[in-house]
Amino acid sequence: MAYPIILAIESSCDDTSAAVLAGGQIRSNVVATQRVHEQYGGVVPELASRAHQQHLIPVVQEALRQAGVTKAELDAVAFTQGPGLLGSLLVGSMFAKTFALALGKPLLAVNHMRAHILAHFINEPRPTFPFLCLTVSGGHTQLVVVKSPPDMQVVGQTIDDAAGEAFDKTAKLLGLPYPGGPHLDKLASTGNPTRFPFPVGAMPGYDFSFSGLKTAVLYFLRQQTAKNPNFIQENLPDLCASIQHTIIQTLLRQLQRAAADLGLTQIALAGGVAANSGLRAALQNLAAEKGWAVFIPEFQYCTDNAAMVAMTAHFQFEAGDFAPQLVSPDPRLKL
Ligand code: KG4
Ligand code: ZN
Repeated sequence: MAYPIILAIESSCDDTSAAVLAGGQIRSNVVATQRVHEQYGGVVPELASRAHQQHLIPVVQEALRQAGVTKAELDAVAFTQGPGLLGSLLVGSMFAKTFALALGKPLLAVNHMRAHILAHFINEPRPTFPFLCLTVSGGHTQLVVVKSPPDMQVVGQTIDDAAGEAFDKTAKLLGLPYPGGPHLDKLASTGNPTRFPFPVGAMPGYDFSFSGLKTAVLYFLRQQTAKNPNFIQENLPDLCASIQHTIIQTLLRQLQRAAADLGLTQIALAGGVAANSGLRAALQNLAAEKGWAVFIPEFQYCTDNAAMVAMTAHFQFEAGDFAPQLVSPDPRLKL
């Protein structure tokens, strides 16, 4: 079979997504984002599972319709096995297993973190192996050496909060709506990034730490608002720019160190935080200085989506890496 037709399901957190890959190309990528969590300031796992259950079948039907593919034409069904929220993963995995069984098609179990990285192969330009990938999302911050689709090695990761959490938690302290990352990004564009110096999390090797920043921002805001209750409102763009600058410095310092030590010049950015305009600009500047080739996927393939799951499943299909019907979701699945 030259190119398989694959239906992929992503349900690891709060986005329900289905995609179809055919002829080696993504033919559809439908994402239903759950708005129910906004009022709680974070993802509520039980509500996420219920929303996946409501969204999944219409999302799959729409993905097949947009791709112009019938169920009978599918060669395999792929799903996100982990990491993620157990209840959310269960909805996607049970659907995929049942669908594959009913259709008599093979099943592909995909690692969500590998999928974020292999999203780089959906469209041109594609990095060549080996490359170094910085995956930054709401749940993860990892530096990964990618030697081939199956051969990936985590060389550094966060020891506490993920970069996206650092954005979201500090944005919450500033009174911004959830998820705060995009709001903070927007406000930062008109602020002074060096006005308020916050600590850059200093870790040995290539690991990251963001909990110190959150605490520093919390104490600083408490101190300042005790003197001036309007401090946040009066300084919002500068506060956002300074926080964003600190997060970017923390990320790029370790990235730069790993790239130099490991002799890698192809640098890829993945995950929802790759949408951050300050991070993109700072990485492009650093790349120009270092002579790196930088790869950043389209925004729709940076945040959680099933297209990246389909792309990863395609590599697994070619390698004959199928999953048995007994496969279970694994909330803590390692890379
Ligand atoms: O990859 P993703 O969609 O979901 C996870 O797997 O976590 O990432 C979501 C994270 C959230 O923390 C969100 O605030 C952050 O990505 N994010 C941003 C921006 N857009 C999304 N953070 C900073 N600046 C942005 N423009
Ligand atoms: Zn993700």
